[in-house]
Amino acid sequence: MNIILLGPPGAGKGTQARILVEERGMIQLSTGDMLREAKSSGTEMGNLVADVMARGQLVTDEIVIGLIEEKLNAESGGGFIFDGFPRTLAQADALGELLERKGQKLDAVIEMRVDDVALVRRITGRFTCGNCGEVYHDDTKPTAKEGVCDVCGSTDLQRRADDNEESLRQRLMEYYKKTSPLIGYYHAKGSLRAVDGLGEIDAVANEIRGILDRG
Ligand code: AP5
Ligand code: ZN
Repeated sequence: MNIILLGPPGAGKGTQARILVEERGMIQLSTGDMLREAKSSGTEMGNLVADVMARGQLVTDEIVIGLIEEKLNAESGGGFIFDGFPRTLAQADALGELLERKGQKLDAVIEMRVDDVALVRRITGRFTCGNCGEVYHDDTKPTAKEGVCDVCGSTDLQRRADDNEESLRQRLMEYYKKTSPLIGYYHAKGSLRAVDGLGEIDAVANEIRGILDRG
């Protein structure tokens, strides 16, 4: 089963993707994580995208489609969770073609609905484990022991360079302008399913389970 988690910055895409990986052994493909990895390993492409990401703008379609194509070619099976991809109509078309070439299809596009006020709260309180990638929040998901990751025990807890109000404003603008048209695109294809992303993490996970189990 291949699915897209679609939603604005802070909607909870990464959080839910990690739950699905854990529960169903699906493969998370997050273009945001891939780009941050390229940035921290200092590759030419990573240096090229660093400023664009810090400002909250979208990286070019060519770069992200290339990243996804590489990952898809490297995997023999399926069960992909596309997290933060596609973000433009050109990316959506490219994904359709890439899956078709692999003899696969998209089973569901899950739109996570969260209002802007909640998004600001979520983004400004987020921190992540630099070692295992677990995502936390100052209020809604703190670590059990301050400064230590619950999952792997690392003390390398980080805040993202683009998690400030100014970049977030730009990321939201990019989302509404370039990514939200995908809601109509996938609705027309009959694959769109919406969930209320404002509920607690477990409640949202339950809604997603229901969608995937219904097929
Ligand atoms: P990316 O890394 O994809 O960031 P994003 O889309 O802005 O999404 P986030 O990771 O910020 O949020 P999320 O929905 O995963 O929320 P999370 O689960 O962490 O992209 C970053 C940048 O890379 C882009 O701006 C762009 O420059 C570039 N890029 C990436 N992909 C691209 C593409 N395809 N094309 C072009 N450019 C691309 O949750 C957020 C917080 O809320 C956490 O603290 C979490 O603990 C908390 N939380 C989660 N769920 C709940 C809940 N239900 N209740 C309470 N708190 C919750
Ligand atoms: Zn960790």
